[in-house]
Amino acid sequence: MAEPALAARGVGFAYRDGHGVAEVDLEVAPGEVVGLLGPNGAGKSTLIRVLAGVLGPYRGSIRVCGDELSGLTRRELARRLAVVPQESGAEVPFTALETALLGRHPHLAGLAFESDRDVELARRALARVGAAELAHRPLAELSSGERQRVVVARALAQDTPLLLLDEPTSFLDLRYQVELFDLLRELARGGRAVVAVLHDLNLAAEYCDRVALVAGGRIVVAGATAEALTYAHLTRVYGTEVYVDVNDLTGALVVTPLSARARERLRREQPAATP
Ligand SMILES: Nc1ncnc2c1ncn2[C@@H]1O[C@H](COP(=O)(O)OP(=O)(O)OP(=O)(O)O)[C@@H](O)[C@H]1O
Ligand SMILES: [Mg+2]
Repeated sequence: MAEPALAARGVGFAYRDGHGVAEVDLEVAPGEVVGLLGPNGAGKSTLIRVLAGVLGPYRGSIRVCGDELSGLTRRELARRLAVVPQESGAEVPFTALETALLGRHPHLAGLAFESDRDVELARRALARVGAAELAHRPLAELSSGERQRVVVARALAQDTPLLLLDEPTSFLDLRYQVELFDLLRELARGGRAVVAVLHDLNLAAEYCDRVALVAGGRIVVAGATAEALTYAHLTRVYGTEVYVDVNDLTGALVVTPLSARARERLRREQPAATP
């Protein structure tokens, strides 16, 4: 088997007030798309930031493409993994193209300026997320979804074997959600490893090979998507009832949260089938 792009063992991190993550085991191989799911405050973003080397020191071991993260320089790490944070600065004074070009910096020699080829790669990254026309617009003036795609372009321009994305589709419309995850799958086919935090369980069901459900700072369920996304697991982890079905057209799982109205209707009409 190929060396994992990411291998986390017994990873823990605590903020000063004690919140954080604990005992996280997570391995992601080249070619895989792995989803991190779970309720607000579960620790998903914390985990992404620890795995990305943004938060530390950590307990346990995090190996990125074979080497312990804490032993890598920032530049070495930035050549191995790219991050799309959950919230990305609307306040930075860059254009979209300048932002995408930042992704090329770990590849520049010393204090060199970007070459024409770097500019070309940054433009190509923007084009891949449908943001070519935004190249010269200031980031601060873009819509939330436009800005989110530009930040993804920066990560793509970084051209790393591992991508960590924290809710990369939270501001995207339906078309761009599908286009982004189609692109992530294509990158995985090309040998990249992808970890994405998601709140959309249907996107997770369609695109993730495996998922980890995070609650209270720990991974409480992990496995192949179809085995992990069950009524019992989801209802427990999210603390609300869901209905899980299979789309007979695509074969993907469909997860529908049950409204109070729907629960009431089910109890009236099928009392035996509802817990
Ligand atoms: N900088 C911080 N200092 C102290 N506690 C923090 C900090 N950032 C987050 N936390 C706490 O750590 C816990 C996990 O937060 P985190 O942002 O990782 O959750 P999340 O799973 O990403 O949630 P969401 O779905 O809302 O993005 C929360 O209880 C949060 O309040
Ligand atoms: Mg988060």
